[in-house]
Amino acid sequence: MEQSILSVKNICKTFPGVRALQNVCFDLRQGEVHALLGENGAGKSTLMKIIFGLVKKDSGEIFLRNSELKSISPSKSYENGIALIPQERTLLTHKSIAENIFLGMEPAFVSKKEMCAQSMEMMKRFSMQISPDTPAAQLSAGMQQTVEIMRAMNRNAQILIMDEPTGGLSAQEVKKLFEIIRTLKEQKASVIYISHRMEEIFEISDRITVLRDGKNAGTFDTADITKEKIIELMAGKKISSQNQNKNCPGEEILQVKELCTNKIHNINLTLRKGEILGIAGLLGSGRTEIFECIYGINRDYRGKILINSKDCTHHSITDAISCGIGLVTEDRKRTGLSLKSSVAKNITLPMEKKIFRYAVLNSKKAHAISLEHSAKVGLNTSDMSFISGNLSGGNQQKVVIARWLAKGSKVLLLDEPTVGVDVNAKQEIHQLIRQYCNGENAVIVASSDFPELLEICDRIVVIARGQVVKELENKGIDEKILLGYATSAGGEKI
Ligand SMILES: Nc1ncnc2c1ncn2[C@@H]1O[C@H](COP(=O)(O)OP(=O)(O)OP(=O)(O)O)[C@@H](O)[C@H]1O
Ligand SMILES: [Mg+2]
Repeated sequence: MEQSILSVKNICKTFPGVRALQNVCFDLRQGEVHALLGENGAGKSTLMKIIFGLVKKDSGEIFLRNSELKSISPSKSYENGIALIPQERTLLTHKSIAENIFLGMEPAFVSKKEMCAQSMEMMKRFSMQISPDTPAAQLSAGMQQTVEIMRAMNRNAQILIMDEPTGGLSAQEVKKLFEIIRTLKEQKASVIYISHRMEEIFEISDRITVLRDGKNAGTFDTADITKEKIIELMAGKKISSQNQNKNCPGEEILQVKELCTNKIHNINLTLRKGEILGIAGLLGSGRTEIFECIYGINRDYRGKILINSKDCTHHSITDAISCGIGLVTEDRKRTGLSLKSSVAKNITLPMEKKIFRYAVLNSKKAHAISLEHSAKVGLNTSDMSFISGNLSGGNQQKVVIARWLAKGSKVLLLDEPTVGVDVNAKQEIHQLIRQYCNGENAVIVASSDFPELLEICDRIVVIARGQVVKELENKGIDEKILLGYATSAGGEKI
């Protein structure tokens, strides 16, 4: 049997009111990819942060090559050859790609020229054909994630912890990442890989550990276990698959006519009441740009936007919200959620009228509304004063969705709605979207997760290089067909 390089024994961690980890044991072998799975809030990120030194354990032991690590901090971890790609993005957006890749190791060790040259070399491996001087702020969420990955790899770590590295990445980028992981394995490095995407786990991992409610629910060789069994272990119960009740679209609720910006060209879309429309596109294809125009973030466009046949061209965000538009952004940390605020505050953010009476906050009402809608999305806490930043990644996403359900939006624009959401919660969110679309409301989902679009959409528009390349009824089509169209106009624009 291969040697264990890292082992953790009986780790416990309690946050105020939450027992995040209880006597967790886990070991990592040299040269393996070990997947760590579990529902939202199971304790995966907390365990990884403890190993890396971002969070202090209450008790338990951590051994690196059989010697116990007594005091752990991120800088010591780097010295020990351990690097973490955290679930939350950590790039300094005003700094360049190269500066971010070399963050913490800069000028004293490497010249600026050398930094750029080395960054270029790494970017080539991910087919990123832009200047390493580009500020991180100008990158899409997926590209930023790629830079996070490059930064960790630049440490030449022997143990690489990847906490949901593929959230927001396109199929092509995932493929590139996997090629790199395979090379790392050949060099005898070890990877801890956290993801909610089952296909990825089965493609890349050698072993799988499932965490449930802060406890280890089992470790298995990937070859010996099925997806169904893992889902059952994660939930602690058998999950019945849900039937797909397709909706019957009604009259048009949203029309986008000949929309043009410097990134998109002549986009025409119609959305009907009761309909779930998918926008399938790779990173940088223009998905987000379309949403930003409809939601009023970007008002510098040509073309027309009609909501319920009313001309809403060039409206502001406030107008968009009052016309019944809601947006769930692809990067909830940056633009979706106020991390320092409570769950109640985040859910009731756009609905002052309902929760204020004579300019006084009716906190009872805010609490009741938040509680009702957080239960609807299956949030793992009923404490509405819980600080949103302390929720697990998937639960944060549920809060953003709960916000728009509570607001009673008529048209929801969802940009990568289930990134970081566990498989069961994903089913729940899909079900919620379907229920929401029964009758009066409608949804546009933009995603690079094509299986997700095929599962929930009635109709799918494929865009590439800022243009609609195909519109398809969701009947008898598959991922390959979508990918074919999505890459038809020369692939993604980076
Ligand atoms: N700083 C904190 N303060 C309070 N509670 C916390 C804190 N960090 C994490 N928690 C709680 O600990 C539990 C485990 O969270 P963790 O982030 O480890 O889950 P996870 O398995 O990574 O979930 P996800 O798949 O959603 O990312 C959750 O209930 C979370 O709300
Ligand atoms: Mg996590």
